[in-house]
Amino acid sequence: MRKSILSILILGCLFSTSANCFKFGEMSPFIVFEVNSNPNSTWKAARYPHFEKMTREQLLGHLGSLDEPDWVKLPTKEFDPNANADPIPEFFDAREQWPNCQSIKLIRDQSTCGSCWAFAATETFSDRICIASNQTLQTSISSEDLLECCADYCGMGCKGGYPSAAWGYMKRQGVSTGGLYGDDTSCKPYIFPPCDHHVTGQYQPCGPIQPTPQCVKECNSEYTQNTYEKDLHFASQTYSIKQNVQAIQREIMAHGPVQASFKVAADFLTYKSGVYIRNPKLKYEGGHSVKIIGWGKEGNTPYWLIANSWNEDWGEKGLFRMLRGRNECGIEAQIVAGLP
Ligand SMILES: *[C@@H]1O[C@H](CO)[C@@H](O)[C@H](O)[C@H]1NC(C)=O
Ligand SMILES: *[C@@H]1O[C@H](CO)[C@@H](O)[C@H](O)[C@H]1NC(C)=O
Repeated sequence: MRKSILSILILGCLFSTSANCFKFGEMSPFIVFEVNSNPNSTWKAARYPHFEKMTREQLLGHLGSLDEPDWVKLPTKEFDPNANADPIPEFFDAREQWPNCQSIKLIRDQSTCGSCWAFAATETFSDRICIASNQTLQTSISSEDLLECCADYCGMGCKGGYPSAAWGYMKRQGVSTGGLYGDDTSCKPYIFPPCDHHVTGQYQPCGPIQPTPQCVKECNSEYTQNTYEKDLHFASQTYSIKQNVQAIQREIMAHGPVQASFKVAADFLTYKSGVYIRNPKLKYEGGHSVKIIGWGKEGNTPYWLIANSWNEDWGEKGLFRMLRGRNECGIEAQIVAGLP
């Protein structure tokens, strides 16, 4: 019976001519019930009042990874599965592997802007600068600078962007330092305040999508260490990783977290804890980009350990885990990274 209610809602939407056939979040109570009442479910869902009132347009302000045209794609890094190397551990967490790199532990917040593509890229690059320096350099690379100044080449700013183009830009143009909202100790901190993504937490609920801020090639006035030009950090090599679990694992073990993109179905927005597996009856609503920091196994279910950019009130303290090994929602097919 409960299955049929969800199916009727989904079918009703597919065949409706009205763009707003149901407020996007209205099927959430049915999704949550179905996940939590299934004894085989590997994850727990929760009802979030903000999400239940959300329209599809607002949803896109939490996501922001676009399908990539061929011209932005990066070369695929060679991977030799027979190369002589350390065994791959069953559990890996970059926060424990490189405990002195503060950026790996930090969860950022993209606020009400579809800038996930810029967040995951700059978070990953910050981690990799620290790891490459033998855990000495604590550099926060600016999501703001990348979002503002790579608005065209990278896609559509707050309406979404291309993760590969973000790395291309970091290689050619460079990106300044920049921390969280209000952090004047870096060149260009993020200008949108944190907000609660679906959950009821310590912030205001996230509102409608913001316009992309204008590109300003200057540091904030409190920051006097460097001019904007001297503050830029450049990626040297940039590449994509083959769709292969071991290739992704070896890349993380050697150089640190990677940027991953995947397709989001409505049930992802009800995620609370556990290893997320999409209900295959739900269609994809948009693309999202995130940072994989490790992997493990819960019972018999292998997972990726992933940092989201919806602040620490969401999911497992800002992180989530997703099924590993089956290219769940396309997560293993769109991995990009680079070296400082
Ligand atoms: C749970 O898994 C078992 C064994 O695979 C299957 O027989 C059963 O139908 C599943 N239950 C539900 C509610 O999906
Ligand atoms: C990295 O840092 C550690 C601890 O400070 C030090 O013992 C080690 O020699 C360094 N490694 C390299 C390659 O510089």
